[in-house]
Amino acid sequence: MFHKYTFLLFALYCLCSDGVLSNSLLAPCKIEDAACIQKSVQAAAPKIITGIPELGIESSDPLFLERIEGDLSILKYKFFNTTITGYKDCQISNIIISPDLTNVHFELNCPTLKMSGLYDINGRLIILPVEGNGDFFLTTGKYNILVDSELKIQPGTDGKSHLSIKNFKLKCTAKSPIIFDFRNLFNGQKDLSDAVHKFANESWDEVSKLVQDPVFYACMNKIIKHVNKYLKTVPLEDFKLN
Ligand SMILES: *[C@@H]1O[C@H](CO)[C@@H](O)[C@H](O)[C@H]1NC(C)=O
Ligand SMILES: *[C@@H]1O[C@H](CO)[C@@H](O)[C@H](O)[C@H]1NC(C)=O
Repeated sequence: MFHKYTFLLFALYCLCSDGVLSNSLLAPCKIEDAACIQKSVQAAAPKIITGIPELGIESSDPLFLERIEGDLSILKYKFFNTTITGYKDCQISNIIISPDLTNVHFELNCPTLKMSGLYDINGRLIILPVEGNGDFFLTTGKYNILVDSELKIQPGTDGKSHLSIKNFKLKCTAKSPIIFDFRNLFNGQKDLSDAVHKFANESWDEVSKLVQDPVFYACMNKIIKHVNKYLKTVPLEDFKLN
């Protein structure tokens, strides 16, 4: 009787505390073993980005954002119900983790990111006035994203130490032309809309620098929330070797 009971408790403990998949995703590495970490993270990232419904981790590709707000000095824009695809194809590299596990730096190289949703925009796109609202479609070429982030170690509900990603800073650079398609600019006045699209097409580098940050911060914020949700299911000791 006693044995049956302890076995049941043990089985429940395993199911609840470790989750079904947790240990399998991040291969264990020593902190100083950069090559191992790179390999481990590269293998795990696409699975976490795709989402793990069994663990309650939502999809980051497609990534859905109800609201993105860009409040720049000369330009205000809002994107609603935006869907972004492409993050799972970003290559992660140059991962540098501080030996005390308080900071991480890494680089993402994304072949293409596609966004669509509803927009509302008003202000100046560098030299041209721009206003309107409607459907929008954005397709980037190669994007380079540098991420610098703080890490934190905290006890989880299982009493074990868990890693999480805290504040982060981004440096994003478009490496090739971006296709802008904002429907119904200026209430559908074609000549004005064409002028803005032509300018944005030709000046994609300058335009991306002006408008990109609120979008990338909103995306990364949500992706990191999903990653942290995953990290809550797996104790640090399961993927960090001493
Ligand atoms: C976004 O989608 C939700 C759910 O479909 C809808 O209720 C809401 O009105 C949409 N937002 C906008 C600005 O259209
Ligand atoms: C902007 O570039 C896209 C893709 O190259 C092209 O289809 C579109 O016609 C261009 N728009 C203008 C107004 O130049």
